[in-house]
Amino acid sequence: MPPIPFIPDNAPFTAEQRQWLNGWLAGLFSNAGTAPTPNAPAAPRKPLTILYGSQTGTSEALAKKNAKAAEAKGFAPKLVCMEKFDTVDLTKEERMLVITSTYGDGDPPDNAQPFWSWLVSDAAPRLEKTKFSVLALGDTNYPMFCEFGKKCDARLEALGAKRVHPRVDCDVDYETAANAWSEAALAALAGANGTVTAASAEAATIEAPPITTHDRKHPFAARLAANLKLTRDGSEKEVRHFEIALAGSGTTYEVGDALGVMPTNCPQLVADVLAALGCDGEEAVKTEAGELPLRLALAQHFDIAKPSTDLLKAAAARNPDGELAALLDPARREELKKFLWGREVIDFIAGFSATDLIAVLKKLQPRLYSIASSLAAHPDEVHLTVGSVRYTAHGRARKGVCSTFLADRCAADTALPVWVQPSHGFKLPADASRDIIMVGPGTGIAPFRAFLEEREIAGANGRNWLFFGDQRRALDYLYEDTLEAWRTGGHLARLDLAFSRDQAEKIYVQQRMLESAAELWAWLEGGAHFYVCGDASRMAKDVDAALHKVCETIGGLSADAAAEYVKKLKSEKRYQRDVY
Ligand SMILES: Cc1cc2nc3c(=O)[nH]c(=O)nc-3n(C[C@H](O)[C@H](O)[C@H](O)COP(=O)(O)OP(=O)(O)OC[C@H]3O[C@@H](n4cnc5c(N)ncnc54)[C@H](O)[C@@H]3O)c2cc1C
Ligand SMILES: NC(=O)c1ccc[n+]([C@@H]2O[C@H](COP(=O)([O-])OP(=O)(O)OC[C@H]3O[C@@H](n4cnc5c(N)ncnc54)[C@H](OP(=O)(O)O)[C@@H]3O)[C@@H](O)[C@H]2O)c1
Ligand SMILES: Cc1cc2nc3c(=O)[nH]c(=O)nc-3n(C[C@H](O)[C@H](O)[C@H](O)COP(=O)(O)O)c2cc1C
Repeated sequence: MPPIPFIPDNAPFTAEQRQWLNGWLAGLFSNAGTAPTPNAPAAPRKPLTILYGSQTGTSEALAKKNAKAAEAKGFAPKLVCMEKFDTVDLTKEERMLVITSTYGDGDPPDNAQPFWSWLVSDAAPRLEKTKFSVLALGDTNYPMFCEFGKKCDARLEALGAKRVHPRVDCDVDYETAANAWSEAALAALAGANGTVTAASAEAATIEAPPITTHDRKHPFAARLAANLKLTRDGSEKEVRHFEIALAGSGTTYEVGDALGVMPTNCPQLVADVLAALGCDGEEAVKTEAGELPLRLALAQHFDIAKPSTDLLKAAAARNPDGELAALLDPARREELKKFLWGREVIDFIAGFSATDLIAVLKKLQPRLYSIASSLAAHPDEVHLTVGSVRYTAHGRARKGVCSTFLADRCAADTALPVWVQPSHGFKLPADASRDIIMVGPGTGIAPFRAFLEEREIAGANGRNWLFFGDQRRALDYLYEDTLEAWRTGGHLARLDLAFSRDQAEKIYVQQRMLESAAELWAWLEGGAHFYVCGDASRMAKDVDAALHKVCETIGGLSADAAAEYVKKLKSEKRYQRDVY
């Protein structure tokens, strides 16, 4: 089958002619049918809804890709973000693809929460007419792997919708599985002969995917222009400010977006793995990029830090009576998690050959970082605020792959593969007169430095309130000079600081929120937007609880009414989070 679409967008035809020709040619190739005469009435394209939930844009990008594929196959696809689920009448949808990630502990991404609350409520209608298939995105490192996709799949079926193709659960390395699902799910939705091709003048209602020059698959080889330590000597942490030159990339970004960074592994770790295998590194091994010397493959292509489930199983099989084998029992998941904390690939590969190891390694994955700069303030640059992961465990000094690649191994002439991962759920208010409240302890400060730079340059007249915290004021006050200057100059109407270890009792940002609950409530009632960035597992949950408490204590709302109030803030995009 030749590549599709047959007629490129820049061909000298009107959109209508192009659509007709593409439909006709697709029909010709898939059915070996005869060409309709130009006057023949065109059969309508079959509508297809692609519903997506996405936190960091992966599912959204896949949804757009599927819309293109569906259009080429003769559907009339409509892309709908789950937060806008109420713009479609699901009871009338005959064909639906659902693409969603999972966050938290098996929870929906933020923009899918309203959809999920509705879908599980009594208000959810029967969906007898709907044929559907679900693509679930997740990460096998999380115990609740793809849980939200699984829940959507089950709930749609319970509401009477007909699953025409089984759900596919994707790990971080999702491309192959996602492509196969797309082909099969579209074929299943198309019906018996696997095609719905029909020429039609009806415009497909897909949103054009953004044209970006660089993406995850095609990163830009950038240069690191600055690497500065923000924490001071004596701190228990090492947080760095990086400035990356984008000149010549054609890449732009908006504040709130993230930067994808593709690291390479530490050469010392590669050398230690080679020594454990008894290899010199010259042995040829297969990788996605073809056959490579083992040393290069380990440095650039495989995750040699975090042990994969397959690697753990292979290690356990060599020692069936050992502790690891016992802990692989699903009932002992929590104990396994504790056992693995601080252990890496190198701790499990005694007796492995290079071939044994390569067979069970996962692909090295890029990392995302919240962008800490405004392009308006720093043309052709992108800044990051990154905590270097360094710790000693089980007698070995360990390093986070990407944070230490940036901190230690990325020289001014090292190619630094990056791309912008647009965020659609973490944005400044379009109305510059709106107040904003930002809660960003630790590296969570990153996007708020960007927000504040952007609002300063734009002369936005809405007030800015920042809650920042870290361990010690003297050692860990990130961007102190900038924040204090903004406070003094009035750009920060309020700056509330919580240094947790400067006194006997821990003080956290949420405590500062509660201390200023009346003013916080007044800002919210005045239409302020509320943002949270940083640690997902503890801080973001506690800040959320504090927000509910403000609504209850000052707003006089019951717990249920406070939950409704917060839900409304979310649906109005006035409560946005960038948590990890
Ligand atoms: C949307 C998004 C935005 C983000 N923004 C930022 C940002 O602005 N700044 C930032 O710094 N990070 C940010 N992150 C996190 C970032 O992507 C990386 O996860 C982080 O830098 C760690 O990656 P690494 O490769 O250095 O560490 P990895 O090689 O991934 O190692 C981390 C792992 O090491 C282990 N570990 C860590 N500490 C210990 C310890 N003390 N004892 C035992 N084991 C330990 C844990 O298993 C942990 O999962 C963001 C993540 C997302 C998803
Ligand atoms: N899972 C973990 O154990 C762990 C630990 C550190 C970092 N991280 C990860 O590292 C990233 C950010 O780290 P970071 O060093 O920039 O910031 P961080 O660890 O979030 O620390 C910033 C500040 O937040 C405080 N804090 C701790 N628990 C909190 C809570 N429940 N509510 C509010 N504040 C709290 C810290 O205090 P204290 O440190 O004094 O308690 C510190 O003062 C996140 O991805 C986070 O998940 C994870
Ligand atoms: C803070 C955080 C929590 C996550 N929790 C889960 C989880 O519980 N289960 C899971 O399978 N994946 C989890 N993931 C992985 C994401 O679902 C995965 O990276 C997905 O590809 C993201 O897609 P998106 O960009 O469309 O949101 C989590 C990722 C992050 C950053």
